[in-house]
Amino acid sequence: MKIAIANDHAAIELKKEILMLLDEMGIEYINFGTDDTKSVDYPVYSQKAAMSVASGECDLGIVMCGTGIGVSLAANKVKGIRCALCSEPYSAKMAREHNNANMLAMGARVLGVELAKMTAKTFLQTEFLAGRHNRRVELISRIEEGETL
Ligand code: RB5
Repeated sequence: MKIAIANDHAAIELKKEILMLLDEMGIEYINFGTDDTKSVDYPVYSQKAAMSVASGECDLGIVMCGTGIGVSLAANKVKGIRCALCSEPYSAKMAREHNNANMLAMGARVLGVELAKMTAKTFLQTEFLAGRHNRRVELISRIEEGETL
């Protein structure tokens, strides 16, 4: 499994913690930045990670900004991306099991480091349940194709 990682200036410290978690878990990643504390525009970085997931280069992605909102909105504009903004492990588990989310967004100014790490770990360790959930996720893709359900 390979994970796409991206963040803006507000989430550099949280990103470092998440990279350490991935190292501990033995999970490969691509870090799309930013690694600079200078103010940057979050869509630029979130798009890089989202495109990597959408192309299949990475299997899942984790994006972070101050609230997690901006990076999630940007990632979800990339076709094929289902990015879930989560602030605790239960939502992260459900995002994988029910929604087949392929990206997790977190807010560095919202979650403490330990809660963020638990949320990310849960997301990475949970599989999509498929079954009845498949149909619903498929409906989301059809909206993306411009279809009226
Ligand atoms: C940057 O100040 C902040 O707007 C950004 O990190 C994020 O929270 C946007 O959604």
